[in-house]
Amino acid sequence: THYTAVIVAAGQGKRMRAGKNKQFLMIGDDPLIVHTLKVFTQDVTCREIILVTNEADEADMQELIETYQFPKIRLIHGGEERQDSVYEGLKAVSDRKLPVLIHDGARPFVKESSIRHLVEKIEKDGAALLAVPVTDTVKQWKDGKLQTLNRDDLWAAQTPQGFPYELIKEAHEKARARGFYATDDAALAESFDYDVSIVRGSYDNIKITTPEDLQKATSYVEKG
Ligand code: CTP
Ligand code: MG
Repeated sequence: THYTAVIVAAGQGKRMRAGKNKQFLMIGDDPLIVHTLKVFTQDVTCREIILVTNEADEADMQELIETYQFPKIRLIHGGEERQDSVYEGLKAVSDRKLPVLIHDGARPFVKESSIRHLVEKIEKDGAALLAVPVTDTVKQWKDGKLQTLNRDDLWAAQTPQGFPYELIKEAHEKARARGFYATDDAALAESFDYDVSIVRGSYDNIKITTPEDLQKATSYVEKG
């Protein structure tokens, strides 16, 4: 069964310190965002891709789409925060009957098999996200007191995160009305008491954030 992808790439990549949006940095033979777009353009169950970009990058993004002859992509302008960019993307979705997968442009190594599992889970149980068990011991430092969280209960959230369209659109609208901002979309659904399931993803599905991540990504691609 099918889905829509909203891919957010409208950030500035400040922590990468590259002087331009990290989406255009090369990983092996292709720019970062091209790796990401290849996964979704090649997935026959992905019906439409809403690619969210900032105005400054629009011409370069358009050029990439033409160079690689990517099908089914609509280019949309993003907003100030990631959450604003997702919302702009959601408003542009054509088929509101399909589930929507929200994905970071900066996660180029998501596997088609993970996407498949996620979509199956959404169909069965509604909202779901990819995540991996935390491998570090996570400490909480709060009000001058250190506590150790139970690692067995902790998961590192990734994207894609998938939702029935109307559910996540409504969660975004309610959050906007209250000025509530979160770092991922599942947090919005959670805050309005929608249940979100976890689908175990892969440790390879990293978000490229720092120069060190770009190094890792490059060796990952070179090793195949
Ligand atoms: N993003 C977006 N719109 C924004 C901010 C972020 O579409 N206003 C996207 C980024 O392009 C990225 C994803 O959200 O694909 C995850 O964000 P992050 O890794 O923080 O990327 P940047 O915001 O670009 O990087 P930084 O925070 O270092 O500036
Ligand atoms: Mg950011």
